Amino acid sequence: MQDHRFDTNLLKSLLTTKRFGSRIFYFDVLDSTSNKAKKLAKEGIDEGAVIIASTQVKARGRMEREWQSPEGGLWFSLVLRPPAMELHPLTIIFGAAISAVIEAISSVKCQYHWVNDLYVNDRKLGGILMEGRFRGMEPEYVIVGIGINLNFHAKDLSGEFNAPPTTLLDERGEFTASTALLAAILNRLEKEYDRFLEEGPTEIIHKYKNRCVTVGRKVRIINSGEIEEADAEALDLTEDGGLMVELGTGSRGILYSAERLILLDS
Ligand code: BTN
Repeated sequence: MQDHRFDTNLLKSLLTTKRFGSRIFYFDVLDSTSNKAKKLAKEGIDEGAVIIASTQVKARGRMEREWQSPEGGLWFSLVLRPPAMELHPLTIIFGAAISAVIEAISSVKCQYHWVNDLYVNDRKLGGILMEGRFRGMEPEYVIVGIGINLNFHAKDLSGEFNAPPTTLLDERGEFTASTALLAAILNRLEKEYDRFLEEGPTEIIHKYKNRCVTVGRKVRIINSGEIEEADAEALDLTEDGGLMVELGTGSRGILYSAERLILLDS
């Protein structure tokens, strides 16, 4: 078993950021890095603080689903303090940016599945959970929780999954340097976040469109607005991060969220 401990000094030395990673908190065990990040955010910690845990014992994914976080994974949360704006597209931008970094570092083709998943070979490699506290329209803070199945085997995960899980170790057959990967992710996310704040989502979403595994695929939509369950074709991403779909009836619509979106065979 390799030593998966983070080297926080190495992480600091690899960062080229101004804010992301300005404070780094590392723990062997936490209930959830996002819970810890929320606590720190409520206490007034600056934007860019990063909370990392080697293992999490009560981590969650979207819809309060359990998120298994054994040793060897990359489990971290980032504190943001964005101005009042539509934040939905940020999940897509971050997912796409992380998929690009994973691919560059590991040479494994990695994509994002709308709206918050990281996929390799139609299997789930990781996910993003955005949670915020708002005063009216004004976000007091946003916590971006990111989980990537890295240096362990998917067979070590148990339970039922919406999509079969995979890990980078399974996909590439070798370990990935987690500190270097996290540094590269934070460097890229800060760049994209600043661009998003400056010019909005349109150009960035366009730039990353070909990283989206969902577009062009048949999907099963579960609980999205008025749709309880329906099969559809995912046609395109909209410039604000929606997913344009065509239902079997021929009618078209734009999704902004769904309890589940299952990729069907291509
Ligand atoms: C999903 O796919 O539903 C999102 C999964 C997000 C998991 C990460 S791991 C780090 C952070 N802490 C948590 O409790 N959840 C997120």
